[in-house]
Amino acid sequence: MLIRVPGTEVVRPSEITSESVYRQRREFMQAGIGLGVGLALAGLPVAEAEAAYAAHGGRPLDYTPRPDMASDEALTEYKDVTSYNNFYEFGTDKYSPAKRAHTLRTEPWSVKVDGECEVSGNFTLEDILRPHPLEERIYRFRCVEGWSMVIPWVGIPLGKVLARFKPTSRAKFVEFRTLYDPKQMPGQKRRVLDWPYVEGLRIDEAMHPLTILAVGLYGEVLPNQNGAPLRLVVPWKYGFKSIKSIVSIHFTEKQPLSSWEKAIPSEYGFYSNVNPEVSHPRWSQRKERRIGEFFKIRTRKFNGYEEQVASLYAGMDLKKYF
Ligand code: MTE
Repeated sequence: MLIRVPGTEVVRPSEITSESVYRQRREFMQAGIGLGVGLALAGLPVAEAEAAYAAHGGRPLDYTPRPDMASDEALTEYKDVTSYNNFYEFGTDKYSPAKRAHTLRTEPWSVKVDGECEVSGNFTLEDILRPHPLEERIYRFRCVEGWSMVIPWVGIPLGKVLARFKPTSRAKFVEFRTLYDPKQMPGQKRRVLDWPYVEGLRIDEAMHPLTILAVGLYGEVLPNQNGAPLRLVVPWKYGFKSIKSIVSIHFTEKQPLSSWEKAIPSEYGFYSNVNPEVSHPRWSQRKERRIGEFFKIRTRKFNGYEEQVASLYAGMDLKKYF
């Protein structure tokens, strides 16, 4: 089991360790040194190391850092990653999800897999993750609204998960759906979007090694407001493609209609690749503000992942397919 049994870790306030300890630990891990040795080198006894592991009071995860998928940019503070969110199922402002998402029950959790695939059915979260080891990847995350973060996600490559369901040759796209339950997600009582939240990827985007299913951040299980227990992270696309609290994965021949594309097609396209050259109809996408920083920075094409993903769109007019 990759996720530890709930309720077995009790973190006292005195055990909560600073961001710097977390980072120090991560640096050692990235250097390829195991947990015990790394923390001993850092001058921390193992008990304290365990506490550092649960630095933010969440349930710790076992994972392997992927230095090749890391960024040397400063991480966005944990408190910002987990308190400044978009999750319309819990309200349309940025601060409501952190206050209200506790009503979401993430255990037990099951995901329906169907459509153009040989293996389909209902799978528990553990079934979906098994047998892949969790990895930590530090990705830039750029929201269409002009803010961005640098987040240490914990997850597994989506492609590895999808391969297990044996998509057929007709599976050209993958559609994802969020849970629909207005009791648990009170924002769904208001028709600000056509619920449930739907997103989609072309199959080659879904299989791309950068695309992950995340179950954690900062070494711990995802807080509800960040899309627990299972969310998509597609780092070269605007944040709204990274659908949260997924309950359905559907392989299809037809391009899915994403929630935002359905709501305002002139503003939100299916592809939504980060592109400073294509303005949103109401604002420029040339710059972004890193949460926690004062000066805006230049937005990079494909959010800086151009080398890895540009070939997916060779020959496509990205102004048309925005
Ligand atoms: N998924 C669902 N189900 N509902 C949402 O409202 N918002 C999207 C995306 N996934 C959203 C969602 C948007 S607009 C963004 S920017 C990111 O989640 C925000 O992720 P974060 O809160 O973890 O930063």
